[in-house]
Amino acid sequence: MQILLLGSGGREHAFAWKLGQSPNCTHLYIAPGNAGTRQFGTNVDLAVNDFANIKKFVLDYGITMVIVGPEEPLVLGIYDYFAADPLCANVAVIGPSAQGAQLEGSKAFAKQFMSRHDIPTAAYREFTATTLAEGIVYLASCATPIVLKADGLAAGKGVVILDTIAAAQHELTEMLGGKFGAASAKVVIEAFLTGIEFSVFAISDGKNYQILPVAKDYKRIGEGDTGLNTGGMGAVSPPPFVDAALMQKVRDRIIAPTIKGLIQENIIYKGFIFFGLINVNSEPFVIEYNCRMGDPETEVVLPRLKNDLLDLCKHLHAGSLDTVTIQKDTRTAAAVMLVAGGYPESYEKGKIITGWAEMQDCLVFQAGTADLDGQIVTNGGRVLAITSLADDYRAAVRNALQNAGRINYEGKYYRTDIGFDL
Ligand code: AMP
Ligand code: GLY
Repeated sequence: MQILLLGSGGREHAFAWKLGQSPNCTHLYIAPGNAGTRQFGTNVDLAVNDFANIKKFVLDYGITMVIVGPEEPLVLGIYDYFAADPLCANVAVIGPSAQGAQLEGSKAFAKQFMSRHDIPTAAYREFTATTLAEGIVYLASCATPIVLKADGLAAGKGVVILDTIAAAQHELTEMLGGKFGAASAKVVIEAFLTGIEFSVFAISDGKNYQILPVAKDYKRIGEGDTGLNTGGMGAVSPPPFVDAALMQKVRDRIIAPTIKGLIQENIIYKGFIFFGLINVNSEPFVIEYNCRMGDPETEVVLPRLKNDLLDLCKHLHAGSLDTVTIQKDTRTAAAVMLVAGGYPESYEKGKIITGWAEMQDCLVFQAGTADLDGQIVTNGGRVLAITSLADDYRAAVRNALQNAGRINYEGKYYRTDIGFDL
């Protein structure tokens, strides 16, 4: 089977690594990929949103499965683009329809969906430029801290948490005035929830679902979870606080009603669903949905998944996920993300990365890397993730950190406290 994987991050390197283990993966193409993904296939110079050229490549190369890593092509409707063309009738696109991807593409859509299906989430209201004055009045009645969210995709920057009403009113005015462009033409204001966050992943074939290993990621740049938000600085799977009782609530109150709601509303969803959850006094609430796998969560989830990933994707496409049993490695996986100096603000690229040969007993998933004259250089803010597996999460983190110390490039930075709070 010839497969095309879309994306270029650590998540996609982990997908490529896992797909490469499947005996049915004849050849893997990755568009655009990075210096790591090419160990498992052929990198193709195609942008993930260039649907016309992706389709041409799929037809020219006899691709029968397209696995979509990032959210943007899903929100822009890559599933529907392929479904609408009879020439692509035998191509399985692994990812939701544009309507399903609205769970991530529009915070207001997601909140309305949860409200229709009684899925626990923070109380909210939504406002646009024409209702700004009402929003200002509404904010005056809110408790602080208060959360403001740009409705649309804003590269992970669209969520702002404010400690005073005045600051929130100012932020609402700025957001509705175009601070995040079209993404903040609508703003969701929601109550702040206090608790510990975790990430649950499911795969849905449109009627059945299966739950993948649970993870927790570390979003802030600084030690002790301080400083600016990033794409994710590390992850642990499973987080020890997510016990069977909590997972039962997640399944009954969140995952099952979400899948049922999608079916009831005739929304085609054949792909990965990422439930960004928060545990508030042993009660799970949804902070956000994503229509894809997480990064760096994938770098700890896939190493613990024993099933053949291509086989799961085939069942997902065929609608037979009910016949599958998810098998997990009982060990804990920990990933430490190595980033460029300055990230998540401005940073330099093109720094030569060394130390590869010294890696011991770990997996290295490349993210922002490129080949330059036979050497691997940095090519993004998040450079690579080092994942270790051990019986105890502390040992896994320790081993990942030891290996992180052995990689070198100018400006290297990583958090040394991943898992510290568990
Ligand atoms: P989101 O993009 O919706 O995941 O929001 C980004 C981050 O903001 C989340 O991972 C949380 O850390 C935080 N956040 C979002 N919504 C809330 C909320 N209602 N209460 C507390 N923290 C929140
Ligand atoms: N690690 C969070 C995300 O992928 O959105």
